[in-house]
Amino acid sequence: MNIERTFVAIKPDAVQRGLIGKIVTRFEEKGFKIIGMKMIHVTPEIAAKHYEEHIGKPFYPSLVKFITSAPIIAMVVEGIDAVNEVRHIMGATNPQNADVGTIRADFSPLMSTNSVHGSDSVQSAEREIGIYFKPEEICPNWKTMMELIIDEQSK
Ligand code: RTP
Ligand code: MG
Repeated sequence: MNIERTFVAIKPDAVQRGLIGKIVTRFEEKGFKIIGMKMIHVTPEIAAKHYEEHIGKPFYPSLVKFITSAPIIAMVVEGIDAVNEVRHIMGATNPQNADVGTIRADFSPLMSTNSVHGSDSVQSAEREIGIYFKPEEICPNWKTMMELIIDEQSK
């Protein structure tokens, strides 16, 4: 059990369909702490940094076209085993294979418009957070209500 940070993006399809609030709620209700958040219209240059590992693959051009088509909501999410747990809440890459109750199963029509991104490792998270956020844009020095209650109980 580790406290980790991960990079999450609400992708253009979900922004366009008015699902920002519902998706943020999934992470908040699970107990994750959002310590960075902004809207950004991704450029092809940023997309190339973010999806570096996919450059040259057949789906790369359509992936860039999609991710640059409307703004995303970029987030830094912190919590217990955040990298894997966030991907668990998001569901499988292809929404048709995602478990019911996950974001992708519940909201996403297709693999090419699968509504959310989550880093796939702690190393990827560090790299992706660095692409989208300056250090001063991250706000880690506050406590959630649950953390405050735990502090109070341990007095
Ligand atoms: P993401 O990076 O967006 O969180 O998704 P992921 O880790 O679950 O999947 P990844 O393999 O990193 O792929 C990135 C995005 O590219 C699209 N994709 N299309 N046609 C295909 O075979 C294919 N494979 C991947 C998906 O939209 C995926 O989210
Ligand atoms: Mg990925």
